[in-house]
Amino acid sequence: MAEALRIGIAGLGTVGASVVRVLSDKAAELTRQCGRDIVVTAVSARNKSRDRGIDLGAATWFDEPLELAKSPDIDVFVELMGGEDDPALACVKAALEAGKHVVTANKALLSKHGVALAEIAESKGVLLNYEAAVAGGIPIIKTMREAMAGNTVSRVLGILNGTCNYILTRMEAEGLSFEACLKDAQRLGYAEADPTFDIEGHDTAHKLSILTSLAFGCKIAADSIYMEGISNISQADIRAAAELGYRIKLLGVAQQTESGIEQRVHPTMVPTSSVIAQVHGVTNAVAVETDILGELLLSGPGAGGNATASAVVGDIADIAKSRPGFQHGPVFGRPARELKPYKKAQMRSHAGGYFIRLTVHDRVGVFAGVAKRMADNDISLESIVQHGSSAEGDNSKTVILVTHETTEAAVRKAVEGITKDGHLVDKPQVIRIERAD
Ligand code: HSE
Repeated sequence: MAEALRIGIAGLGTVGASVVRVLSDKAAELTRQCGRDIVVTAVSARNKSRDRGIDLGAATWFDEPLELAKSPDIDVFVELMGGEDDPALACVKAALEAGKHVVTANKALLSKHGVALAEIAESKGVLLNYEAAVAGGIPIIKTMREAMAGNTVSRVLGILNGTCNYILTRMEAEGLSFEACLKDAQRLGYAEADPTFDIEGHDTAHKLSILTSLAFGCKIAADSIYMEGISNISQADIRAAAELGYRIKLLGVAQQTESGIEQRVHPTMVPTSSVIAQVHGVTNAVAVETDILGELLLSGPGAGGNATASAVVGDIADIAKSRPGFQHGPVFGRPARELKPYKKAQMRSHAGGYFIRLTVHDRVGVFAGVAKRMADNDISLESIVQHGSSAEGDNSKTVILVTHETTEAAVRKAVEGITKDGHLVDKPQVIRIERAD
């Protein structure tokens, strides 16, 4: 049998502890599959004395993760610390430069430094595996990187943040407040250390930027992503969406347009009958549309210790099965030096349908004024509905408009005009509608 593969793990939070547990519980099976033992020989975390409910066996403890990354006693450095810069960046760089394979779940790090790290990995002939960084346990990286060679992708979209999907699902199903649902997501270990990363869309954007590179063969451009989170989605939006036959999801979408690649993260109305609308709770889903394959949709657990550990262990097993001279392909599906520069499409030229919810003064001419602003901006309406106010004595009405396909620029101009006209009692709500089957 080949020599054991020696693993060093930096970061023993929810995911790190699950990885140690799975490697130990499934040791015999992994050895059978990989033809060699996989042994955790070294670990590093911030707090040595914390009880994590795992057996670290004879693993050497490192206070400094950088020392662990460089240690001659490991073959694979598993980075589970998180964070877009140091110490994670310095550790991953050091490990790659020392000729070690790296497995990471760190989407923030990859979305900022992925291409540079891929260049180092490829020049050293080692693997940089990151299945757990996008959509938790769903094997979307392997699928896009390896199984879809030759396909030309036109759009990739997904529910990429379990915390947001969990919150939106419970808000809709149980009528609960946003805050109560977020607390539960944190308690269940789904949320990031700073949950604003989840709810304001950063986490989805990090993951989307990686998928965009794989989909379109371009450099990662996380800074070019248009981003809105879910913190201003209210029960009023969720109820109105349901009435109109839609469900609200936080989607990350990247698509090829005539003017470039559009990357956007925002709450989105998808038809209630669509497959993606059936993805509930912490589950993630990724849909990829290509010329050869048509549409592929993968869904599965997107957050939590075990789901993420499953992807990390899969990446480790790939390394255990690889042999010098017979390793897997480039980090982003093509050599890093051949990734094209990213060509950004302007958000203002985004074309699609829109849901617009306005709380307006209940007085003569308002409805007509709203309709006029739409017509002036060449926006054709699919429906326009007016609701009475719920509070007694409140002299306002809710107007809900659904547009046919129009542009972001036209909608922004129309809503600016309506605001200027003095018709609004409250901030307007605009939610994009996405085509989905
Ligand atoms: N906070 C992330 C989520 C964890 O909720 O999906 C996985 O990246």
